[in-house]
Amino acid sequence: MHTITRINELDAIVIEHQDFTARILLQGAQLTEFTTTQHPENWLFVSPANTYETGKAIRGGIPICWPVFGAFDKNPEPVKSSFPKTLEQHGYARHAIWTLESVKPEKDHISIALSLDAAQLKQSPKLAVQVLFTLSEKGFDIALSTTNNDTAPITFSQALHTYFATSDIHQTSITGFSDCDYVDALTPHWETKNQHGDITFTEETDRIYKTGSNCAIHTPNKDFELRTSNSNSTVVWNPWIEKSKHLSQFNDDDYLNMLCVETANALDDSITLLPKQTHTLKLQTRIIKYRQKQ
Ligand code: BG6
Repeated sequence: MHTITRINELDAIVIEHQDFTARILLQGAQLTEFTTTQHPENWLFVSPANTYETGKAIRGGIPICWPVFGAFDKNPEPVKSSFPKTLEQHGYARHAIWTLESVKPEKDHISIALSLDAAQLKQSPKLAVQVLFTLSEKGFDIALSTTNNDTAPITFSQALHTYFATSDIHQTSITGFSDCDYVDALTPHWETKNQHGDITFTEETDRIYKTGSNCAIHTPNKDFELRTSNSNSTVVWNPWIEKSKHLSQFNDDDYLNMLCVETANALDDSITLLPKQTHTLKLQTRIIKYRQKQ
């Protein structure tokens, strides 16, 4: 039911079920491909520019940003005082090699669990982290669990940084955020603004919405539905024309075929765990409408 394959320097778990397929890189526990019989194109965007080298973050799929989301300095004080300030943007989990704990085939789904072992947890030795993927013909579910094994509280931020595929960003929109406040990360002082109507893309977009990502993404040929739990922040990102030219592992025109909707715990929504407490961030993704290409 599953095999391990190598893509240049990286190992990937390949799932081939009669109703769906998936590919998860051990580096970053990163889901890079998910298809179903009914929706056979990759649901996720992955840049053709990726070189699949050890230690280089893969641009696409679902990078796990952990135990900090975004730039360390932009995090609230309790997060900053929980970790060394050398922690890189989006944390180190996306570069680390995860351990495959189990692959469990059930009647209509497969569950895959991965964790970071002690040797990989050097920058946050008192935390334990596990990710559980539940894959079925209906879609994919992800649960990211963090446990505090310290004797003192720890505050962390995180995101499931999903790159969704679209055939045309100009004809793509997101519903579900009307009237929500968001922090515009492209303004010098991270101004708070209010969303009027649907989210559309006409320029570089980098926003942290102050609500969970229970929303729908409308692309020219399919609509995705996202359901989340234990998240009260959602990042919406597209680098647009200029920024694309400077991004690693990304082609200049890749921005046309992707949008990130990131299920997060960021800013005020960072999570404080008391000793022995566990927090589980959950995302469920389905395709709710499909239109044949003309
Ligand atoms: C998003 C951030 O989550 O990730 C953006 O909001 C950032 O500011 C983007 O540019 C990509 O980050 P990275 O580190 O993968 O280039």
